[in-house]
Amino acid sequence: MQYKRSFLSSLLLAACHAATSPRDAPKADIAANVTVLFSAAVAGALEPCGCSPDQRGGVYRAAALIDRVRAEVPGALYLEGGDLLFESAKIPDVKRDQAKWKAETLAATAKLERLTALSIGERDRAEGDDFLSKQLLPIAATTNLYDAGGVRVGVATGAEASTLAAQNKALRDGHARLTLLVAHASVSRAQALASAAAAAGFDAILAGHADDPQEQQNVAIAQTAIPVFAVEGRGQSLLRLDFVLPPSGSPGAILLGGEAARAEMLKALDVRIAAEREKLPSAKEPLRSLVAAKIADLEKRRAMAASAKEEVPVDRVTVRATFTRLEKGLPESAAAHALIDAYNNKVTMYNIEAAKALPAKCQVEEKDAATYVGAQSCRECHADAYAFWKTTPHANAYAKLEKVNKQFSLDCVGCHVVGWQRASGPCRIDKPKALGLADVQCESCHGAGSLHVADPPAHLEDVDVPQSRCMQCHEAENSPHFNFATYRPRIIGPGHGQPMVAPKP
Ligand code: HEC
Ligand code: HEC
Ligand code: HEC
Ligand code: HEC
Repeated sequence: MQYKRSFLSSLLLAACHAATSPRDAPKADIAANVTVLFSAAVAGALEPCGCSPDQRGGVYRAAALIDRVRAEVPGALYLEGGDLLFESAKIPDVKRDQAKWKAETLAATAKLERLTALSIGERDRAEGDDFLSKQLLPIAATTNLYDAGGVRVGVATGAEASTLAAQNKALRDGHARLTLLVAHASVSRAQALASAAAAAGFDAILAGHADDPQEQQNVAIAQTAIPVFAVEGRGQSLLRLDFVLPPSGSPGAILLGGEAARAEMLKALDVRIAAEREKLPSAKEPLRSLVAAKIADLEKRRAMAASAKEEVPVDRVTVRATFTRLEKGLPESAAAHALIDAYNNKVTMYNIEAAKALPAKCQVEEKDAATYVGAQSCRECHADAYAFWKTTPHANAYAKLEKVNKQFSLDCVGCHVVGWQRASGPCRIDKPKALGLADVQCESCHGAGSLHVADPPAHLEDVDVPQSRCMQCHEAENSPHFNFATYRPRIIGPGHGQPMVAPKP
């Protein structure tokens, strides 16, 4: 195992590799501030596809924000919690080259932003340890010491309860005033580790793994023994943590919630109280007494939360969490854009070249299966349906790719043409248009139509197209507002599922 070194050697190594070496005698007799930026489970997301205007993310937005924070707090640390480079731990052969260039571009932007440490995850190793080490990223060892503007900060990686005490001891022996566990673990696993990590002497846990990065939420948990944080995946948000360290005191940070968090908590308690109250009328003894006691308890907690002053204990580390959703309209880094432009140009040139080795249409294995014929063939008998379809965005889907010069990207073409890389569908990325199979056409929904064309009206795969067919393209990431009930009526109209002329009232 290349990355599992002994605690001591990794400690020494990390100390040497720290951006600026920590001052010799760390002063712990004055209060200090430490700012940490955290991102995780970016999972190969360079930039949003642009399929929906309110998609978030884009390394150029993250980069601009990191630049801004660094201008304000020069010693801020920037940590990646893992799964930065690749979309999945196993990359399909056809996408391998493009996925590697994307990973290289992500690594380049991370270095541009002077990444402090990457706690590697399985998605970082998709192309092996050699590929990973070639990226020259600051890969975190099991224990690491960093200088955050003159304050020594310890970062441990891993998620094994049994090693936490030794890890924290190594960091504290190295005079770390703040110790963070960057666990490549899900939020629930990190929560389960919180007591052990608190007992070991850590101040907070940053959870870096998400099974589904697209769905990972922003999380700041104060109720565990030490706070647990997680950030939205696919680069959709960036987390900023501002720690205040007392001159001396006991470990374990206290999360300062602020008013918004308190309002959230009160709302959540109200919901639980109401739910318990609903049980009362029908509850029989002894359940009834239990429910009544629970209500009393919840009400007490609510009263306490409502009247609680935000106490800032003098001898404890405190932390404030700020999540920034990387939305359209935020500043963007020109340097990061330049890296992405270079990647896009490389992809275009390479994919056009590589396509030449492939057949225009993918081979048909099954002899009697229907093949794609294109909307022009359907038009011959369904002129009205065709005319209506022409008015829908589906008929324009390829032009939308051309407009942003992404028609040669393997990340994009699949949902914007008919039958991409399916039997009789386009196999060569430069051929959908020539084959008459660009855009989302009739057969994208009704299925390949050659048999029906030869012998109508039979042989159609789908007459009334099910939701599952739409969702092959309308995924959560590309079409966050997709709702079959509201989307379906928009592809139906006069000549296509409706009479040509509306009946006179
Ligand atoms: C998984 C399928 C899928 C992939 C892959 C995909 N798209 Fe899309 N794209 C869609 C869908 C679905 C919509 C329509 C979304 C909606 O309106 O709800 C869309 C819409 C668009 C639009 C129109 C947006 C508008 O506001 O008019 C553009 C531009 C676009 N995609 C570009 C891209 C690019 C560039 C890529 C590759 C980086 C890409 N798409 C990859 C499914 C996909
Ligand atoms: C040679 C003429 C012809 C061609 C070409 C043709 N169809 Fe049809 N299609 C028919 C006839 C006839 C019917 C039955 C009457 C009707 O619904 O219009 C039909 C019905 C349908 C139906 C409704 C089926 C049902 O059971 O209600 C769909 C959907 C359909 N066609 C899709 C397509 C698609 C997609 C294409 C192109 C791949 C296509 N058709 C090409 C003649 C044709
Ligand atoms: C082969 C992929 C694919 C399939 C299958 C598909 N769509 Fe789409 N859909 C797209 C793309 C790509 C766009 C964006 C087109 C554009 O904006 O140019 C889109 C756009 C739309 C839009 C317009 C959204 C807007 O913002 O105006 C609606 C509505 C829609 N689709 C509904 C459906 C429904 C309903 C189904 C299933 C019955 C379906 N789509 C099946 C790819 C697909
Ligand atoms: C986005 C998916 C989608 C696309 C693209 C699409 N259809 Fe349909 N089509 C449907 C759905 C859904 C229905 C069912 C409508 C109903 O019964 O209310 C339907 C119904 C039909 C019907 C039977 C109803 C009728 O009006 O006769 C025909 C014929 C048909 N489509 C032909 C076509 C042709 C031809 C094209 C391309 C020019 C096409 N469709 C493109 C989804 C699609």
